[in-house]
Amino acid sequence: MEVKGSTNVVGLIGHPVEHSFSPPMHNAAFKKLDMDYVYTAFDVNPKDLENAIKGAEALNIKGFNVTIPHKIEVMKYLNEIDEVAKLIGAVNTIDFKNLKGYNTDGIGAIKAIEEVTSVKNKNVVVAGAGGASRAISFYLAKYGVDTLTILNRNVEKAQKLSEDVLKSELIDNVLSGQINDMSLDDADILINTTPVGMHPNVDVDPIASKDQMHEDLVVFDAVYNPNETVLLKEAIKADAKPVYGIKMLLYQGAESFEIWTGKKAPIDVMEDALTNYLGL
Ligand SMILES: NC(=O)c1ccc[n+]([C@@H]2O[C@H](COP(=O)([O-])OP(=O)(O)OC[C@H]3O[C@@H](n4cnc5c(N)ncnc54)[C@H](OP(=O)(O)O)[C@@H]3O)[C@@H](O)[C@H]2O)c1
Repeated sequence: MEVKGSTNVVGLIGHPVEHSFSPPMHNAAFKKLDMDYVYTAFDVNPKDLENAIKGAEALNIKGFNVTIPHKIEVMKYLNEIDEVAKLIGAVNTIDFKNLKGYNTDGIGAIKAIEEVTSVKNKNVVVAGAGGASRAISFYLAKYGVDTLTILNRNVEKAQKLSEDVLKSELIDNVLSGQINDMSLDDADILINTTPVGMHPNVDVDPIASKDQMHEDLVVFDAVYNPNETVLLKEAIKADAKPVYGIKMLLYQGAESFEIWTGKKAPIDVMEDALTNYLGL
C-alpha cells in the first residue's frame, strides 16, 4: 500500500492503543479492494479527547474506532448518535461525514452467532453485565430474540441492565439473576461476556460446564485470547456449537469499515489478517 497525498485516513483512538489488532485487519481490507485508505492508531490522553475529535474533523479524517477509555466520553463531542448506540450509552465507531457515532460491538457478536444460527425468537442467556454485555444485549433485543436472561456475579448490575433493556421496548421478556444459578435447559444460545478463561487465567472453572449444556445449544465466548477458551472446550465436549470470540472482533471491524466506506467488507481477507496478527 502506497500512502500518497490523496490517501484517506481512518484510525483508532484509545489509551493505550499499541496492541490493537485493528490496523492490520483494516489495512489488509483496503489493500485487497485497492482503496486509497490507511488505518492507523492514535494514543489520545483523556484530557485531550475533545481536541482530538475537533482536530480529526479539521484534518478531514474519515472515521475513527474508539476504544477504552473514550467510548462513553466521546459521545459529548458528536453531532448525532445512532439509536442503539444511544441506548447502549457507548460508541466504538465515528463517521466524520456527519460526525455520527455508532456501536458495532453488539452487531459484531450477532453476526458472529448468525454464522451458526439466527438469534430471532431464541432464548438467550448472557453471562456478565459490563460493557460488552450491554452492547450485545441491546442488539439481541433489536434482532428479535424471544427471551433474554442476563446473569451476573453482582446481581444488582444484571437487574439494572435488564431493566434498561426492557425500557427500550425492543423486547418484552428480559430476566436477570445470579451467574452461579445458571440453567441452560431451555436456552438456545449462551453468551459469555465475562473475562473468565481469558489469558493468563486460562485453566479456571468455566461459567458453565458440559453437564449443564445440551447439543442444540450455541455457545459464544466473547473472550478471544485464547481462541478456544475453557468454556468453548466444554461446549465441544457437550456436542454444542462453539462460536469463537475472534468472530466478534472481525464483524465489529467489518461493520465499521462499511460505515466509513460504503463498501462491502472483504470478510475473508480481514479474518486472515486478524488470525495472523493474533497468531492463531
Ligand atoms: N470479542 C470481542 O470483540 C470483545 C469485545 C469486547 C469485550 N470482549 C471481552 O469481553 C470481556 C468483558 O469485557 P467488558 O468490557 O464487558 O468488561 P467489564 O465491563 O469490566 O465487565 C466484566 C463483567 O464480567 C464479570 N466478571 C468479571 N470477573 C468475573 C469472574 N471472575 N466471575 C464471574 N463474573 C466476572 C463482571 O461481573 P461483576 O459486575 O460482578 O464484577 C462484569 O459483569 C473481556 O474478556 C473482553 O476481552 C470481547
